[in-house]
Amino acid sequence: MTPVAITHVRYVALGVRNLPAQVEFYKDVWGLSARESDSGLQYFGAPASLDPHILRLRASEFDRVDLISFAVPSAKIVDSFAATLRSSGVRLISEPAGSTAPGGGYGFRFFDHEGRTLEIMSDVELVSAAELPERDWHPAKLSHVVINSPDIEAAARWYGEHLGLQVSDRLADRMIFLRGDSNIHHTIAIAAAPHVSLNHVAYESRGIDEYLRASGRLIRSGLPCVWGPGRHGPGDNTFAYFSDQSGFVAEYTTALQVVDDWNAWQPRVHPVTPEWSDQWGTANIRDPEPFVGRPDLGVHDAPPV
Ligand SMILES: [Fe+2]
Repeated sequence: MTPVAITHVRYVALGVRNLPAQVEFYKDVWGLSARESDSGLQYFGAPASLDPHILRLRASEFDRVDLISFAVPSAKIVDSFAATLRSSGVRLISEPAGSTAPGGGYGFRFFDHEGRTLEIMSDVELVSAAELPERDWHPAKLSHVVINSPDIEAAARWYGEHLGLQVSDRLADRMIFLRGDSNIHHTIAIAAAPHVSLNHVAYESRGIDEYLRASGRLIRSGLPCVWGPGRHGPGDNTFAYFSDQSGFVAEYTTALQVVDDWNAWQPRVHPVTPEWSDQWGTANIRDPEPFVGRPDLGVHDAPPV
């Protein structure tokens, strides 16, 4: 079995039909920092993120997920993942090499078993964290990503066997939470859906006050809150979900459970009840449709950059 070496999701890349509207959304509405932009690519960072970017937008004919990029600690581990994946019959899109993206790095891309483009990367030139005033509202960094799959058990097995991500908890038969090599409850999660698509991308605030300021700012502006504000049972994190200009769901979150000793951890199967999905009882009724989304048109089709 592959040892866990993935520490976190570095960034998510989306191909979007209306790039200017999405750039405006993630910069002015959502509060990310527009970092660099060239040849149809726009990168965004966040103040407490040491990764140079946590989101990449690309002008595309249709809205799609371009890729999910995972961080590992060394080039040796990148090479080891590439060799293991290749020998397991996983389709590599590119061989390990230096990246020309902002921050550089050494990595490669491949398809998961359902055709999502994934990237494993090390040696990215990290940036320094930016100062923010107290009681700010800007999201501080990327928290986690949730993907949809028609077979969450098979997907969890694939991510466990090939990427070393381990099950931290389950939500009935609807969602499986996977952890990487960190003390965070989940790095990704896989949700049950009729098709492959993006469920949501979560951005972390610096505590509950700033999370509520971020959420309240959007609610006050009239943007419909898809679900929230509230606090989940599994992972114990707070949530407020909104749709971006392409219909992808983004989440403000904070206080995701920290697990200091995974050896002592017993994965649980959490029940689906209103009281546990929304501990505070503050969230609106959840409409599942935005989370299910449309079938992802980026499946089995690696992005051109
Ligand atoms: Fe989430």
